[in-house]
Order: sequence, then C-alpha cells, then structure tokens
Amino acid sequence: MFVTVLLAIVTLILIIYLVVGRNTREAPPGPFSWPFFGNQFLLKRLTRELGGQAKAFLELSKRYASDVITVTIGNEKVFVVSGFKLCDTVLKSDEFDGRPWNEFIKIRNMGKKQGITMNDGTEWKILRNWMMQTMKNFGFGKHEMAEMIRNELIILLDNMNKTGPLRFKVLITRPVLNVLWFLTSGQAFGASINYFGDLLERRAQVFDMTGGFLNAFPWIRYIAPELSGYNLLCTLNNELKDFLMKIIIEHRKNYKPGNEADVIDMFFNEMKNNEESNVFTDEQLVALLVDIFIAGSTTTSTTLDFLFSSMIVYQDVQRKVQEEIDSMIPRDRLPEIEDRAKLPYVEAVINEVFRLWPVFPIIGPRRVLHNTVLDKYTIPKDATVLLNLYSINKDPNVFPEPDKFMPERFMKNGTYEPNTYTLHFGKGRRRCPGEVLAKSSIFVLFVGVMQKYSLFPIPGKGPYSVKVNYGLTTSPKRYEALVTPR
Ligand code: HEM
Repeated sequence: MFVTVLLAIVTLILIIYLVVGRNTREAPPGPFSWPFFGNQFLLKRLTRELGGQAKAFLELSKRYASDVITVTIGNEKVFVVSGFKLCDTVLKSDEFDGRPWNEFIKIRNMGKKQGITMNDGTEWKILRNWMMQTMKNFGFGKHEMAEMIRNELIILLDNMNKTGPLRFKVLITRPVLNVLWFLTSGQAFGASINYFGDLLERRAQVFDMTGGFLNAFPWIRYIAPELSGYNLLCTLNNELKDFLMKIIIEHRKNYKPGNEADVIDMFFNEMKNNEESNVFTDEQLVALLVDIFIAGSTTTSTTLDFLFSSMIVYQDVQRKVQEEIDSMIPRDRLPEIEDRAKLPYVEAVINEVFRLWPVFPIIGPRRVLHNTVLDKYTIPKDATVLLNLYSINKDPNVFPEPDKFMPERFMKNGTYEPNTYTLHFGKGRRRCPGEVLAKSSIFVLFVGVMQKYSLFPIPGKGPYSVKVNYGLTTSPKRYEALVTPR
C-alpha cells in the first residue's frame, strides 16, 4: 500500500515537472515563418489593413491568445510583448536592458556602438549616469532653462500673430529644437536652425520610408544601395555628423575650464579629467548629441502637434482648457513650469494625448542579456524584444472606450488623477532621461498658446478629426488651422 502511494506521488510529481518543464521551454506562439521572408508579408498586410505596426502586433497577440508572441522579421526572431503586466516586467528587469546590434541599428548609430540610446553595458551606464547628472545641473527646474522656454514661447506667440491659415508643425519645430540646443550648447540656434531642423526631418522621413525594409533585409543595401535608401541614409548621417562636429570644434575654442555652462562644456571637462578614457571622446559626444536630438525633438514636437490638432477638433475641450487657464493665470502673465499643479484639466488633456497618440507606439528594441523566462516562455540570450505600448493605451479594461478622446478619464473630483498603467516615458533603468524637460516644454508652450489664441478648423476644409500617419513614429496628417487672438 505504502509503495503504491509513493509511486503515485512520484508519478504525479514527474507529470507536473514534465508539463511545467515543457511549457517553460516553449517559445512564444506566433505565425508560421516562411524561409527567407519570415513574417514580412503578413506584417506588411496587417499593418496596411489595420493602420500601423502596433495594431498588427496587437491583432497577432489576440490571434495567438498570448501577451508574448514570436514574429520573424527577415531572419531574426523577435518577441513582441503586449499588455501592462508583461511590459512592466520587462522594463523593470535587468536581463532585458541590452540593445540589439543588428545591421539596421548600425546604420542608425553611424556604424559604431556608442552614445546612450543604442548602447549597453558599462559604457552605456557611465554615459547615461553622466547625462542624468548633467541634465539635472543644466536642465530641469533651473532658472535659465525656464527662461529659455519662456523666450521661445514669446517668439512662438509672435509668429502666430498672422492672418490666414497656419501650419503648427512648422511653428513648433523651432522652439523645441532651440530648447534642446540651449541645453546642449548654452545658446539658441543661429541661422542654421532651419538647415538642422530640415536635416533631422529628412533623415526621419527616409528611416520611416525605408527603415522597415532595411531592417528586415539588411543585405539589400549591397544589391540596391540607392533604391533601398541606404546611400541616402549614409549621406544624411554624414551630414549630421559633420554639422555637430563643426559645432563641437567651435565650442572648444571658447571653452574655459571651470566655467562649464552646458552639456558640451561638461563633456569637455570630463574629457580633460579622463584623458585615457574611451567613453569621453569627440565621437561619443557626437553620438550623445545625436541621441538627444533624435530622442528629444520629434517626440516633443509631435506631441505638441497632436495637442494643437486635438484642440482644433475638440472645441469644447479647448474652451475648458482656456477657462481653467484664465481662472489660474492672469492674462498679462505668461505660464511657468510651476503652474502645472494648478491646472489639473490641462494635465489631463496632455496625458490623454500621450495615451491616444503615442509618438512611439512600440518601444525598445531590447536585447536579452541571458536566457530568461517571460510569462511561461523561454526567451533566449541575445533575442530582440519589442514592447507594444499601444496595446496598453488601447486596453478597454484599463481605459474604457479607449478610442475616444476623453481627458476626463484622468480627472477625479476636480483633481488630476494619474493612471498607474501608463508607460509613456518607459520605466526602470532605461526610463527616458528627458522626461522632465519634455513635460516642462510641452506644458509651457501649450498653455502659453491656449492663453493667447483660439484655434479653429478652416471652414469646409477642417481638420474635423485627428488623422494620423503611422510609420516607425506616429504623427498627425498635415493640417492647417485658423488662429484668432483672445
Ligand atoms: C514627449 C517626449 C518624449 C517621449 C514620449 C519619450 C519617450 C521615451 C521612452 C518611452 C524611452 C524608453 C525607451 C526604452 O525603454 O527602450 C525613452 C528613452 C530615451 N529618451 Fe525620451 N522621450 C521624450 C523626450 C525626450 C527628450 C526631450 C530627450 C532628451 C533631452 C530624450 C532622450 C531620451 C534618451 C537619450 C533615451 C534613451 C535612454 C536609454 O536607452 O538609456 N527623450 N524616451
């Protein structure tokens, strides 16, 4: 009898071990991967039909009833994570902190693993910590930075004082670039702002148009370097590098040790103190500036672009925003960063725009540093992981009626109530280092414009809804608006 019971227990333990063991060894489910092309055609079709790659990934996640799916892009297996619980786990776990180093990222990073965004390991840690400290010293909350955003607001308000339709995208680019430029070089852009803005825009457009294809089939650059956009990307990268290098050389002429006033000065200081270091070099400084401008300019300016286009479309929300501003800030005083706490409805509107139109609906890519388990699946070392933020922002269990523009969802009893299920700026060790600066710039520029102007659709032309371009980034479709002083 005792032997029978013992055998039964051992058999049960074995069965549980085999079932659990088999599950943890399983790869996440996903569509059949064709030799050579992987899931490229399926993803392309779903992206076209549904409007955006984030929607395509969410659809596949539903089809395979899993918050982690495997898709094959080119010949690389990529794990796409959806839903707050698992995205949060990935962002908070050390083992997902790496960045992949594939042919496409090599192009983005100008051929070398350097800077912060696409770097990892010790070099990333040193540079990131240094940037966070430097941003604290020169960026957030500093009087000079607040003053700089205010000056840009004054110029923006002046540029809006014109009759006829206005294109907000063009108006917004300048203040956003100037604030970043002030942070890095201690001054506003000179005449070169248009050239630099245009260069960043052209580079982003080419990445958007050819990036997906080059990512899936990087070898195409050897066969069709012109047609694939590879040559153009290299040319634009070189232009960007040369432009920033010239700025660095100019800056060095005026650098006075002990008198550091901006990011570039602080970097020079670090170079002086670590002459043997391969972390603080001219090349790394260029990479760092590229990171700041690529990560900071489109994200901030496109969020503002969505904010203004939503005000044109949702006139009732615009009126409520203006009433709140008028009740808290006298018309003859410009808004300040400190006013944020006094304007809960404005905060709700900004957060609803972050939720509904995230500029990067898919974040990452991350590289897994060692074999690990996510959900019940094994994710192998060096695998690429993408996080589908869109799946969280549109989850009806977290945000009822998720497709509706409803700032009230962030309000409770007249106060702003943050939603803990939002990851607009990421989380963990790779959380966005520019978050405070971005939020401050967006708040002051948005409130400043709403305080002085009302925005309207052009009769018969619109926009009457917020129409969206879905590429590697999300942006509003081109629109113009009528503006009247208040
Ligand atoms: C609306 C504006 C912005 C949004 C929504 C945003 C969002 C994000 C997110 C989600 C990440 C994390 C990516 C990941 O987890 O893999 C990130 C990283 C980053 N952001 Fe931002 N960002 C914004 C503005 C800025 C600004 C103004 C700067 C620069 C001053 C900046 C610099 C960076 C950098 C350098 C990283 C890479 C950090 C790392 O890999 O360690 N961002 N951003």
